[in-house]
Amino acid sequence: MKKLLLLITSIVGLCFVSCGAADSSSGSSASTSSVSSSAEVTQTKSTDPAESEKSGDSSEQTADQNSTATEKDTLVIYFSRTGNTAQIAEYLVELTGADSYVIEAAEPYTDDDIKYQDDNCRANKEQNDKSVRPEIADPISSIGSYDTVFLGYPIWWGQEPRIIDTFLESYDFSEKTVIPFCTSGSSDIATSEKDIAELVTIGNQLKGRRFTAGASKDEVKEWVDTLPLNNEKAEAKLLISVNGRELTASLADTTAAKEFAEKLKDEPVTVTLSEYGGFEKVGDLPWPLTKSDEDTETEPGDIMLYQGDKMTIFYNSNSWSYTKLGHIENTTQEEIKTVLGEGDVTVTLSLK
Ligand SMILES: Cc1cc2nc3c(=O)[nH]c(=O)nc-3n(C[C@H](O)[C@H](O)[C@H](O)COP(=O)(O)O)c2cc1C
Repeated sequence: MKKLLLLITSIVGLCFVSCGAADSSSGSSASTSSVSSSAEVTQTKSTDPAESEKSGDSSEQTADQNSTATEKDTLVIYFSRTGNTAQIAEYLVELTGADSYVIEAAEPYTDDDIKYQDDNCRANKEQNDKSVRPEIADPISSIGSYDTVFLGYPIWWGQEPRIIDTFLESYDFSEKTVIPFCTSGSSDIATSEKDIAELVTIGNQLKGRRFTAGASKDEVKEWVDTLPLNNEKAEAKLLISVNGRELTASLADTTAAKEFAEKLKDEPVTVTLSEYGGFEKVGDLPWPLTKSDEDTETEPGDIMLYQGDKMTIFYNSNSWSYTKLGHIENTTQEEIKTVLGEGDVTVTLSLK
């Protein structure tokens, strides 16, 4: 056992010692495992018998609800002994609007417990024995309602702390997206990512990210912006009913398109479009939208705002100044032309 510790020490030890590992100077109390401001929890009994059984504890907590529980599909869950990982978790909560939950040890880690220079300190002994599962105080009752779980921890001897293994083995992640993140003196996240993947079945484990202790919110944001989170999947689409066909269009990233979508939330809108120029159908919208006109060479399928209060659907191209509203997806130019037909056409627009 001691040999293994010495081996790991020789690989990572020098680095994280010199980088100020086990930074107890952050002021966290030894008896709590997090400084997250969003870590207030409600005591409750499990409502999910399957998970309750897995967690094997009757004293459980629900995640901190930042707003209506039903709206949240993302959970930031983390263990942090000296506050570094908690700070990153806090940024993640602010950036994603996720719920949060802090993993605390039933027997809190004291400063002596994490004195990694001492071979016999609790943390070192636990990291040297892959079968150790430190008990979690007040485990979360259920993660069933969340699709995506950010899982945060400090690196201990190149790996995730054993209490993270306790957490992973207590719930069903087979249909979850799990995104690990960690802080460390210098070690990267790769070994812990592999450990996590091998320990339990995870629906979709995304590539994780290691941060330094003092990483900024901007750094965290840059990372979050690269992630395929669920809100992107749920992007609204425009449904166009015309001559007995339904066409789907993506909405443009313009103020007018956002206003258009807002209006359609109330009720569908029917617009009569007239043939114009052998390239478009154009008609009056019931309300004006905010123009941000740009010189554009349109493509078949483009849906444009013209003069602030008219909508055009292009089946051919034209160069003019328009504000983009959207684009008809997966439909050829011929199909669009055929569906729109000759002369005037009535289209009904709604949100998908
Ligand atoms: C027992 C122990 C082992 C550690 N092992 C490593 C390591 O292998 N590599 C590393 O870069 N940092 C290591 N560190 C430093 C921590 O990963 C780092 O200080 C981290 O930011 C602490 O996070 P926290 O404040 O959320 O607890 C270790 C710290 C402790 C207490």
